[in-house]
Amino acid sequence: METIIAVVGGTGAEGSGLAARFAKAGVQVRIGSRNLEKAQEAARRIGSQTTGHTNADAVAGAGIVVITVPLSAQVETLKSIRGSIAPGAILVDATVPLEIAIGGRVSRMLTLWDGSAAQQAARLLPGAAVVAAFHALSAEALAKLDHPLDCDALICGDSAEAKAAVVQLAELIPGVRAIDAGPLDNARLLESAAALLISLNLRHKVKESGMRITGLKSGGHL
Ligand SMILES: NC(=O)c1ccc[n+]([C@@H]2O[C@H](COP(=O)([O-])OP(=O)(O)OC[C@H]3O[C@@H](n4cnc5c(N)ncnc54)[C@H](OP(=O)(O)O)[C@@H]3O)[C@@H](O)[C@H]2O)c1
Repeated sequence: METIIAVVGGTGAEGSGLAARFAKAGVQVRIGSRNLEKAQEAARRIGSQTTGHTNADAVAGAGIVVITVPLSAQVETLKSIRGSIAPGAILVDATVPLEIAIGGRVSRMLTLWDGSAAQQAARLLPGAAVVAAFHALSAEALAKLDHPLDCDALICGDSAEAKAAVVQLAELIPGVRAIDAGPLDNARLLESAAALLISLNLRHKVKESGMRITGLKSGGHL
């Protein structure tokens, strides 16, 4: 893949796991952080193909921007980068709106005015191609770089072209099958499925539950 991928909040568990997987597949990755040194340190840990930047610098010129910050920081972070995102860039939102954002439980969802965290992102970035993806890919599993994942990546959005690019990105991760899950309206379903996985992790005392969809023709692509 030629496109530069920026991971905003790429110093965190999910962002650094995704960044490491993309870098391992040969993609040029920029780790974004509120703190330049923190980003550079995270990029050093990943090694080849990866550089560290402030969030705004990371997204400038990137073709795909993946945002992996807690819900409580999503709006503020999007506002901090929206002036720097290249026209035509795709924003991939992986936020799971969990009650823990307001001091509640990690396995409970919050209902957002826009319907989902991804739709909230779309409202904050009018005109951007927002795609919801990666909610079910466990950070713990992503970090085990020598092991393929055992999980489908359900992807939704309103731009077929943007979804196709994110399908291609997701399938760079060994073991991941990307599935087109429809319009951005469906993001609430993807985010809920991630909350279900968190709840299963807690109940079954594991950290890497994932999901596979059966019965689809020709993989998950349309
Ligand atoms: N963990 C998973 O398995 C998983 C799976 C799927 C989706 N997700 C979603 O991905 C997002 C990130 O999850 P995570 O587990 O990677 O979280 P995390 O480890 O806490 O990392 C989040 C990153 O967000 C940045 N951030 C910006 N503003 C923040 C604030 N006010 N408070 C805390 N961090 C802030 C931090 O980067 P800087 O300090 O460098 O700016 C931090 O490294 C969440 O929305 C989560 O629902 C997580």
